[in-house]
Amino acid sequence: MPSQSCRRSFLKSATLGGSAISLNALEYSRVYGANRRLGIAAVGVGGKGWSDLNGVAASPDVDVVAICDIDSSEKHLGQAATKYSSAHQYEDWRKLLGDAGNFEGIIVSTPDFMHAPISLAAMQAGKHVFCQKPLTHTVHEARQMQLAAEKFGVVTQMCNQIQSHSAYRTAVHMVHAGLIGKVKEVHSWQGGTPRWPRHIPRPPGSDTVPANVRWDLWQGVAADRPYKIGMYHPFNWRGWQAYGTGQLGDFGCHILDPVFKSLKLTSPTKLTVQAPKLYPESWTDRSTVHYEFPGTEYTAGPTLPVTWYDAAGATPPREILSDVPSDYKLPGAGSVLIGEKGTLVIPHVAMPKLFPEETFPADQLPVIEGVDHYTQWADACVGKGKTTSHFAYAGPLTETVLLGTIGIRYPGEELKWNAEELKITNHSDAQKWITKRYRKNWEPTWV
Ligand SMILES: NC(=O)c1ccc[n+]([C@@H]2O[C@H](COP(=O)([O-])OP(=O)(O)OC[C@H]3O[C@@H](n4cnc5c(N)ncnc54)[C@H](O)[C@@H]3O)[C@@H](O)[C@H]2O)c1
Repeated sequence: MPSQSCRRSFLKSATLGGSAISLNALEYSRVYGANRRLGIAAVGVGGKGWSDLNGVAASPDVDVVAICDIDSSEKHLGQAATKYSSAHQYEDWRKLLGDAGNFEGIIVSTPDFMHAPISLAAMQAGKHVFCQKPLTHTVHEARQMQLAAEKFGVVTQMCNQIQSHSAYRTAVHMVHAGLIGKVKEVHSWQGGTPRWPRHIPRPPGSDTVPANVRWDLWQGVAADRPYKIGMYHPFNWRGWQAYGTGQLGDFGCHILDPVFKSLKLTSPTKLTVQAPKLYPESWTDRSTVHYEFPGTEYTAGPTLPVTWYDAAGATPPREILSDVPSDYKLPGAGSVLIGEKGTLVIPHVAMPKLFPEETFPADQLPVIEGVDHYTQWADACVGKGKTTSHFAYAGPLTETVLLGTIGIRYPGEELKWNAEELKITNHSDAQKWITKRYRKNWEPTWV
């Protein structure tokens, strides 16, 4: 009897009407309907990838058929190999995709700079994609991810999983229900202190690469540089421009998500950033980004100001909170939406609060239940329902966040944005950061 994975391969290149054809992911789902198994591959299975893999594998429809990690130690490939012992093991995602016959969906949980190269190649091979936030490392890559998802008809989901939590779903519902009226301005912040390196030059010298780490594969599309213990892999890559996206990139796709979802925002038209001067290669730990968006059906005026703050202890200025009692302590991270009829505070991650409190008695407020962000994607891959952070949504959200990271390079200068043309129209120097250079022989294939 053929194994599950062989059976899937057979189905996917099935013979219809007498002639052998290859089906793309969407065609496959249309032809075979529900009640089938979903073969999953996962790239980057340590760190957040471990919970991503377990989250998706919790679906009763999923078989984990392949796992890939550049680090063979216990915390990375090791524990995944033990738990998913029948899955093929890889250290190079290109080899995994080359052997691509036996899975339909892929989880991409690598550092930010490898999201797009892996996801684009996977979509071009007809695979459904579940990808970590921020969706990409550059604005151009974010646009490519949207185009690829549409062109190849695959099911996609960005992992800004708080979107599916009761707290964020309730906040979005409150705005759509008109509880605070049309929204006049938004303030979002992350007041935590990053744990990664920042405001430093690149460390000199090199350390011996541990036997369990494939440093060349970790560097992937990025320019070659010496390995340094504790500087890049794991986790600390966030602080380096070549690999991560700083504090705004790390949290923007979470904290700005209920703002985007509730107000149906797409692209800003301009932004100005306040930030200290950047070191050439590392990110800063404090920035304030003033975005202006076109108004929508949920906003009060023709434009909407949205301000992002990140710094240790950062919160929005108290004077904007006229509906909020002075003894109310703002959460360490979250958003405030100032509406014509009230103020909505959306903590990251806790239930939203409405002010003035006498207008919104706590026991009369709606609560929307959470859903599972991981199995929502697996379900959608087998034709059950839809994802809510698909790349048509997550793409513009990520573009907005990454435009802010470009603005960090030009403090005090206004950048005007033409989203349709993917162009910063008034600043040719800033425009060059819309994309980047890729290591030779590692250039992604664009859509
Ligand atoms: N959604 C969330 O709440 C959340 C939380 C934490 C991290 N993240 C995101 O998850 C991603 C990973 O972050 P992390 O903190 O887990 O990083 P990490 O460096 O701790 O872990 C990344 C894992 O991927 C592996 N890896 C790296 N490059 C690889 C490659 N080219 N091929 C295969 N495996 C590779 C590493 O060995 C490691 O196991 C990032 O994009 C980050 O922004 C999201």
